[in-house]
Amino acid sequence: MKTKQIVNIALDGPSGAGKSTLSKALAKELGLIYVDTGAMYRAIGLFALRQNVETNDSASVIPLLDSIKIDLIYKRKEQRILLNGEDVSEKIREHAVSAAASDVSAIPEVRHFLLDLQRSIAESNSVIMDGRDIGTVILPNADLKLFLTATAEERAMRRYKELIERGQKMEYETVLSDMLKRDRNDEMRDHAPLKPAPDAVLLDTTGNSFSDTFALIRQVIKDRLNDVF
Ligand code: DC
Repeated sequence: MKTKQIVNIALDGPSGAGKSTLSKALAKELGLIYVDTGAMYRAIGLFALRQNVETNDSASVIPLLDSIKIDLIYKRKEQRILLNGEDVSEKIREHAVSAAASDVSAIPEVRHFLLDLQRSIAESNSVIMDGRDIGTVILPNADLKLFLTATAEERAMRRYKELIERGQKMEYETVLSDMLKRDRNDEMRDHAPLKPAPDAVLLDTTGNSFSDTFALIRQVIKDRLNDVF
């Protein structure tokens, strides 16, 4: 039996594939820290929106990085994200911030700015880290890489329900077309595009309930990491 061992699980996939709900539940079950890297891009997107800059104009966004400090803290085991000391965990979930996050995430300097923070958390903690490039760029030596997906229609429906639950008025068609645009942005960008690592386990969750997918991933973890969990 090994003593303290750091375990890193990478979970990538497009928006609305269920990454964050599953990661949170898996983190709880396995005693890992859940790291939501999308929240970091959202915080930078929110900062840029507040400064009234065009979020897809790298020349305007890059200078802002000098004024941004991002910290992750854990309150009752839940990740909270601080932007220059302000807890923006709820504000970053607003619909407008999603597009801004996607824009800023295409800027290599923004990705570089977050890389050290993401890697350093995983170096000293056992984590399940969710994002788009965790298995390909951030943690290429992760102990397990998962890539979760589902049809755009199903992902948009899940996101639509989440927004409605949060009291944000939105048409399903708008959520779907924004999601398709964001998928394109994330997949087509030159730098660290959304794609599965060659050694990732691919899981299509279309039609699955949460508990179906949870059980499936739990089994993959048992098979692949049976010396740890
Ligand atoms: O997972 P999310 O929807 O909160 O992510 C917000 C945006 O950030 C999304 O458009 C893709 C981008 N992102 C990224 O490029 N790399 C990551 N590791 C995480 C998110």
